[in-house]
Amino acid sequence: MKGNVLVIIVILTAVAVIAFNRLQAVMDRFAKSKGEILQSFYHDFSHIKLENIPWVSVLCGSCVLYICYYLYYKLFTPLDLVKDLSDVGYATNSGSEGRSKREVANHVRRLRKIGDIPPVYPNGWFALMEAHRLKKGEIEHVVALGENFAVFRDENGSAHAVDAYCSHMGANLAVGGRVIGDCIECPFHGWRFRGDDGKCTHIPYCEKVPDRAKVKSWPVLERSGHIFVWYHAEGVEPTWLPPEIDEVESGHWVYKGRNQYFVNTHIQDIPENGADQMHLAQVHGPCILSGVDLRYMYSKLWEFAKHNWQAEWQPLPEPNTHIACLELGHKLSILDRKLPGLEMRVNARQIGPGLVYLEFQAACFYGVYIQTLTPIEPLVQKLTHTLFASRWMPMPVASAFLLGEAYQVERDIMIWNNKKFENKPLLVKSRADERIARYRRWFSQFYSENSPRLSLHKEGLDW
Ligand code: FES
Ligand SMILES: [Fe+2]
Repeated sequence: MKGNVLVIIVILTAVAVIAFNRLQAVMDRFAKSKGEILQSFYHDFSHIKLENIPWVSVLCGSCVLYICYYLYYKLFTPLDLVKDLSDVGYATNSGSEGRSKREVANHVRRLRKIGDIPPVYPNGWFALMEAHRLKKGEIEHVVALGENFAVFRDENGSAHAVDAYCSHMGANLAVGGRVIGDCIECPFHGWRFRGDDGKCTHIPYCEKVPDRAKVKSWPVLERSGHIFVWYHAEGVEPTWLPPEIDEVESGHWVYKGRNQYFVNTHIQDIPENGADQMHLAQVHGPCILSGVDLRYMYSKLWEFAKHNWQAEWQPLPEPNTHIACLELGHKLSILDRKLPGLEMRVNARQIGPGLVYLEFQAACFYGVYIQTLTPIEPLVQKLTHTLFASRWMPMPVASAFLLGEAYQVERDIMIWNNKKFENKPLLVKSRADERIARYRRWFSQFYSENSPRLSLHKEGLDW
């Protein structure tokens, strides 16, 4: 909610109160002609003095209006929780006094051991943005997967992603470019490139367009409220597609808000959470009311309330080997007694390296969190959760679902932002650790011979 709303409300209320006080006088003169009424208005307002304004009425009226606006905002507007990389998951302590959050984050990033990491950009579908944020004729510059994309929606409504840099002289198509029909026009000399195949269709000062005049066009898919791009280090065309969620595609479940984070870790660490059953009690067991900071969440105050989890994770067989399934059960217990009615069942599908559908049922509510994970830099991941649920789910309930999930994710982020990638984990003989090994074998299918590896000289680490 913007702060200037309050100022506008106070001004409007002051005008309304003054106008109301003058109303009686206006009514008395109602019999007179229109010109005289306008004159009397002008006379009344031009003679207002500050000491004559009924400030108590203005104050009370402003408060009432502001509360109404606030309630409307909370009750009917989807939650939009967006956090920067330095906002979450970094431990400020006595050594970090005087440093901004960003400086603390960069300090940790520079000092942290990175470990022997796998390639940084696996193959698969990755979300570039939410579909509803790109209207017809709009262009967005998106940096992800070591690439610069110009993402645009053509005049027919189809979304496209092309290489942002014009093949003529390198101007950024997304910075000042225009959408013309199904093409994007370069802001520098007006060359036009078709979204479907990247071919140049028009050069303003040359009749014959050479065949080699084109930009790279990326396979794009609009699904589950997002625009996805297919990334493959070997240039292989899509070998699978993210499945549709019938309730979302049919509009039965509607958009109910989102959260968005930037996480400083290798991409493989994040979906590993799904297979890592033993972290659930440790990281997600303490009551969410005890906070998201791992150092303080074992608070005595909230010890009486606990989250209890059961999880089963396994990859699917052919032809869906790119999918792994997680069944998750959650119960809240107070003084070791499980509370009936507060159970939650989640059926999650990890679809490739960058997408998870978490369909849930809790009490009488059904819906799905769509989790997208996109590498913005080699070791910075954009992590989003978008909630789709029945249109009858009240917005405060939807916001509570999103916030509850966000608090749990913020605890994970504190682990991820500070950990080293362990390429050879010390796994012990147990079902839980066997599953970690199994997850890593499953995830390795998304790397190929030319998958890019981290080059610190090139990338640097500051955010
Ligand atoms: S740089 Fe794009 S048209 Fe010249
Ligand atoms: Fe977790």
